[in-house]
Amino acid sequence: MPAVVIANTGDVPEFEGRITFNVIVCVVIAACGGLMFGYDIGVSGGVTAMDDFLKKFFYEVWERKQLAHENNYCKYDNQKLQLFTSSLYVAALIASFIASRTCSKYGRKPTMQLASIFFIIGVALTTFAVNIEMLIFGRLHLGLGVGFANQAVPLFLSELAPAKIRGALNISFQLFITIGILIANVVNYAVGKIHPYGFRISLGIAGVPALMLCLGSLAIHETPTSLIERKKVEEGRAVLKKIRGVDNVDREYDSIVHACEVASQITQPYHKLMKRESRPPLVIAIVMQVFQQFTGINAIMFYAPVLFQTVGFGSDAALLSSVITGLVNVLSTFVSVVLVDRVGRRALLLEACVQMFITQCIIGGILMKDLKITGNLPSGDALVVVIMVCVFVAGFAWSWGPLGWLIPSETFPLETRTAGFSFAVSSNMLCTFVIAQAFLSMLCHLRSGIFFFFAAWIVVMGLFALFLLPETKGVPVDEMVDRVWKQHWFWKRFFNDEQAVEKRETEMIRPHLI
Ligand code: BGC
Repeated sequence: MPAVVIANTGDVPEFEGRITFNVIVCVVIAACGGLMFGYDIGVSGGVTAMDDFLKKFFYEVWERKQLAHENNYCKYDNQKLQLFTSSLYVAALIASFIASRTCSKYGRKPTMQLASIFFIIGVALTTFAVNIEMLIFGRLHLGLGVGFANQAVPLFLSELAPAKIRGALNISFQLFITIGILIANVVNYAVGKIHPYGFRISLGIAGVPALMLCLGSLAIHETPTSLIERKKVEEGRAVLKKIRGVDNVDREYDSIVHACEVASQITQPYHKLMKRESRPPLVIAIVMQVFQQFTGINAIMFYAPVLFQTVGFGSDAALLSSVITGLVNVLSTFVSVVLVDRVGRRALLLEACVQMFITQCIIGGILMKDLKITGNLPSGDALVVVIMVCVFVAGFAWSWGPLGWLIPSETFPLETRTAGFSFAVSSNMLCTFVIAQAFLSMLCHLRSGIFFFFAAWIVVMGLFALFLLPETKGVPVDEMVDRVWKQHWFWKRFFNDEQAVEKRETEMIRPHLI
């Protein structure tokens, strides 16, 4: 995900400007980036549940599925099948580091163009794959596209959007991710009946948002911040006038120049990030991502159709159930948009922990009691599982989903914001990779215990949110250090010690000066 997203969390300065055509283009670009990422999350689970796809690329998995006494929990356990899903995230992890450099050296626009090109190549390779190598090679290209896009698009948005809608745009990126997942679920359901090429249509449609991003990025301007940062000062001012639709952009222009000057003084942000006083936001950024993934959300997002088949639904019903969970995911994200600045971050996170803990335990309990190695769940039980999955997804979608990204984006001081956020992005990709690669094997070995495994993580993250996560609602981004970190019962020690050392040093120096 993002390289840097400056959230609108309170007193943002008002600059002159109106919602111009460029701002609308900005939303379309946000949509394409989010849809590209979301569609990929949703599509892999759907195609892995399709027999034609399995027969073509994972014959042994398909054969195992056909056995009369198939093992419910292990029928999909196959490292290569998991690699199909997870390979994308390894590539995205590596790409996000490279992309953060291309973004600052060449700008956001070429980085997005590069993203769409990688993505289109990936779509072509996966859609027309003739063997598993070509398929995985294609997924790696899609991953490069996702890595580049997720670094550049949110950065582009936060720099181009007028300050007053910046926060909303931040969550709208997540909203488009959920819409992408839902579209993938619907497409999978619709093409599941087209034999034997349905899965190729699913894979090919991923090219639509990528093409839109490619064409869209030809029509857009580079951001003023990126131009000024790269010393194209006059061009930066001209673009600012154009995108704000007014002539007087002096105040905003001055503030961008000032921000670029401050940022240019920190020549080694990663070095600064390793300092003691950077630890609180850094720990929060990484931990939020680890926890977000260890809710078990992507076990559901990637493998929902497979999971629903495991509890006894037919292929069709399983794909339909995923459409329902996808819809719940989209609708519940709106709850976050409405509530995040009213009830605060902590309330949403804590409430969701209770909700997700209960649902994981109920799902685990039902499977433990009624899903034997062979045979199906009674239909009443299977329905309860689907309902519980929906309640779980709803809780995630208004809390750890969007806030996992929002909180790390708003708690770093400006000088370490981009560098700090790249740790959040890479932690997310790494944990997503681990879950994608391990879930089906864990399901096979831990059986229903996998749901209690995730439930245990939810307890840990709940305690973390309760005791260690400060509330950031309504605090302007650039006042986080003084108003949040230095006031927090635990995190303040990272500043007090530092100040104490400074004080001691001054006291030692003073007598010599007198
Ligand atoms: C997460 C993804 C997840 C998605 C589900 C995002 O915030 O980063 O890993 O699949 O939410 O909506």
